[in-house]
Amino acid sequence: MALILGLESSCDETAAALVTSGRVVRAHKLAGQEAAHRPYGGVVPEIAARAHVEILIPLVEAALAEAGATLADVDAVAATAGPGLIGGVMVGLVTGKALAHAAGKPLIAVNHLEGHALSPRLADPELAFPYLLLLVSGGHCQLLFVEGVGQYRRLATTIDDAAGEAFDKTAKLLGLGFPGGPAVERAARDGDAMAVPLPRPLKGSAEPHFSFAGLKSAVARAAAAGQYRVEDIAASFQAAVVDCLIDRTRLAIDRAQGATALVVAGGVAANQAVRGALSGLAEAHGLRFVAPPLWLCTDNAAMIGWAGAERFAAGFSDPLDTVARPRWPLDPTAESVRGAGVKA
Ligand SMILES: Nc1ncnc2c1ncn2[C@@H]1O[C@H](COP(=O)(O)OP(=O)(O)OP(=O)(O)O)[C@@H](O)[C@H]1O
Ligand SMILES: [Mg+2]
Repeated sequence: MALILGLESSCDETAAALVTSGRVVRAHKLAGQEAAHRPYGGVVPEIAARAHVEILIPLVEAALAEAGATLADVDAVAATAGPGLIGGVMVGLVTGKALAHAAGKPLIAVNHLEGHALSPRLADPELAFPYLLLLVSGGHCQLLFVEGVGQYRRLATTIDDAAGEAFDKTAKLLGLGFPGGPAVERAARDGDAMAVPLPRPLKGSAEPHFSFAGLKSAVARAAAAGQYRVEDIAASFQAAVVDCLIDRTRLAIDRAQGATALVVAGGVAANQAVRGALSGLAEAHGLRFVAPPLWLCTDNAAMIGWAGAERFAAGFSDPLDTVARPRWPLDPTAESVRGAGVKA
C-alpha cells in the first residue's frame, strides 16, 4: 500500500493531505483565504501566493502528525504543477520538490484538473474507466471522456466564462458576497426560478460546448432593472445554468459510447440543484451517477494525493526540474474552440 503526500496551492486554498493507494485519506488539512480576498471581491494572486508560503509547511506538519507518519513513511510527493495562479503553483511545486528531494522519494507533478477528474474514484471504488465527466469549477467547464489515468478526450469546453466564474460574478452583481457559488445557492432557495426570464446560451446547438457570458450580462440587466428580488434572480440564474449543463451533457452522452457512468467534479458539483439534475439525466440514460462528497468537490489536497497515487501506481514520476504551468490542458490534442475566450 503506497502512502502519498499531496499538496495543493493553485488558487486560494492551501492544502496538504496523506492518501493511500487503498483510498484511505489518513489526513487532510486545508486553509482557505476568504478573509484575505473578501475586501477585493475576488482572489488577488499576489496575496494568495504569499499566504501559501506562510501556511503550506505548517499544514504538511499537521497532516503528518494527524496521520502519525513522518516524511520517511511517504512513498511519493504529489504537488499541483498547474494550471492555476502561477505564484501559488510555484510555491506548492517547489515545496513538493524540496520535500521529495529531502526524503529521497519521487515527485509526481499533478495537473490540478486531473485531481478533480480522478477525485470521484477516490470516493467510489466501483467507478471504472471509461466515464463521462462534467468538470465544472471556478476556471473550467468541460465535458471529458476519461479513458484512464492521463487519458482524457475533451468533448466540449466553454467558449467564454466557466460555470463557477458565472456563479461568482452573479454573486458579486447581486451583492451576495464572496465566495459566490454557495451564496447564490443559498439565496436561490428562497427564490422563484421562473420569476426572471434569462437566456440559455448555446442550448440546442450542434456541439456540446458551453457559454455563460451572455447569461451573466442578462443577470446584470435584470439586477439593474430594479424590479426583481435578489432571491428570484439567484434562483432564475441557477435554473438557467442547470438547464445549460443538462442540455450540453445530454448531447455529450451520445458521444461517450461505452461510458460506465456520468460523473461530476469541481467546485460547482457542490451545488445541490446541479447534482440533482445530473442524477436525473444519468438515470434517464441508464447510467450510474457519481459525484464526490462536497468537501472533495472544491479544491483540496486529498484529490491531488489521490491523483498522485493513481499516477504512482501507473509508474509515472517527474524530474525535479519540472516547471510550473499556468495553463495545462488535460487533452493537449483538443482544438481551441471558435469564438473561445482565454479558457483552454
Ligand atoms: N454550492 C455551490 N454552487 C455553485 N457553485 C459553487 C458552489 N460551491 C462552490 N462553487 C463554485 O466552485 C468554484 C470553486 O471550485 P474549485 O475550487 O474547483 O475551482 P478553482 O480551483 O477555483 O478552479 P479550477 O479548478 O478550474 O482551477 C467557485 O467558482 C465557486 O463559486
Ligand atoms: Mg479547482
